[in-house]
Amino acid sequence: MSQTPTRADFEHYMVPNYAPQQVIPVRGEGSRLWDQQGREYIDFAGGIAVNGLGHCHPVLVETLKEQADRLWHLSNVYTNEPALKLARTLVERTFADKVYLCSSGGEANEAALKLARRWAFDQAGEHKHRIVSFSQAFHGRTFFTVSVGGQPKYAEGFGPVPGGIVHGEYNNLDSVRDLINDDTCAVMVEPMQGEGGVLPGQREFLQGLRDLCDAHDALLIFDEVQTGVGRTGSLYAYQQLGVTPDILTSAKALGGGFPVGAMLATDRVASAFTMGTHGSTYGGNPLASAVALAAIEYIDTPEVLEGVNRRHDLFREHLEAINAKYGVFREVRGMGLLVGAEMSEAWRGRAKDILPLAIEEGVMALVAGPNVLRMAPSLVIPEADIAEGMARLERAVARLVDAP
Ligand SMILES: Cc1ncc(COP(=O)(O)O)c(C=O)c1O
Repeated sequence: MSQTPTRADFEHYMVPNYAPQQVIPVRGEGSRLWDQQGREYIDFAGGIAVNGLGHCHPVLVETLKEQADRLWHLSNVYTNEPALKLARTLVERTFADKVYLCSSGGEANEAALKLARRWAFDQAGEHKHRIVSFSQAFHGRTFFTVSVGGQPKYAEGFGPVPGGIVHGEYNNLDSVRDLINDDTCAVMVEPMQGEGGVLPGQREFLQGLRDLCDAHDALLIFDEVQTGVGRTGSLYAYQQLGVTPDILTSAKALGGGFPVGAMLATDRVASAFTMGTHGSTYGGNPLASAVALAAIEYIDTPEVLEGVNRRHDLFREHLEAINAKYGVFREVRGMGLLVGAEMSEAWRGRAKDILPLAIEEGVMALVAGPNVLRMAPSLVIPEADIAEGMARLERAVARLVDAP
């Protein structure tokens, strides 16, 4: 195995559940990546809203190295200092009283859903188990989370889905009024749908969900796996929306690229997870916790968060300028540095065709469904990299339009 791996090895050795681009990045620094051939790219994808501080940020690298020399893993038979510091920091900076640590967004959501069911079971009994979520929602790939998610294709072919789950229409409160009742234990929602098309949740809609949950003694769960940790311009999106959930899930940018997830909850709810009701071998791993703490402390500052809003305006201006020339977008939207450009009627379903052209031009982007070009770059991406990346993206769009 001393030979350098190639993209063909993916087909030879990997389970075919992904279709990665042809280039293999081997090194990253800030918002730039280099592939095996030494070609350089500007990264507007950010590991799908994960690399909140770009690649190999010195603060995260230093923290990881220092922790690696100290202590890697203990199991949950012992607690450890980095996990305790991370939990304390999350509690001090949010609505939450208690934190459960795990290793991914799907796991954080699995824990949130199980906690909601268990809490309702203890309060009211077996019948209070209904969960309301939304079409196009994405909550992860565990069997419970694909069932609660609103894209049926992800649950198809895996046997009977768990019962008691119903889906409303995002940003349509009336659709929820028809679904929620006293048997509902939780409403799970993304404050802005990410995978579903970079669709911001309206404040009145989210507040309406809060009120409906209160009226039916149900829990409001915010999935902030994609929107959290500075992405929208506040530590968590709920803080700028002014609607507070009972449970919040976080992952992705929480570790800046190191796998970590967290479920945050109020005391009233968290107490339903008694000894032995839930767990994870890697939850609260010292390496992951140390890096997450460093990421939060770096990001949750006025300089970084104000910078996110300034960069949002730049992304929007550039995308609108590209659109003024080529007319490929119907709308540019999003919050902070989760930005989506929905394709115009003539280009419907063609968002993904931009990606390989963009890579050829030296910029990496994402899609969110067939119609939305998505960007989730580093929260501290230099403004010069935004300008250069957008010039490259414009060339990709020009090529799409020239050779449709
Ligand atoms: C809103 C949301 N929730 C959950 C997940 C799943 O996270 P993970 O892939 O870390 O399990 C994602 C991933 O895209 C997400 O965007």
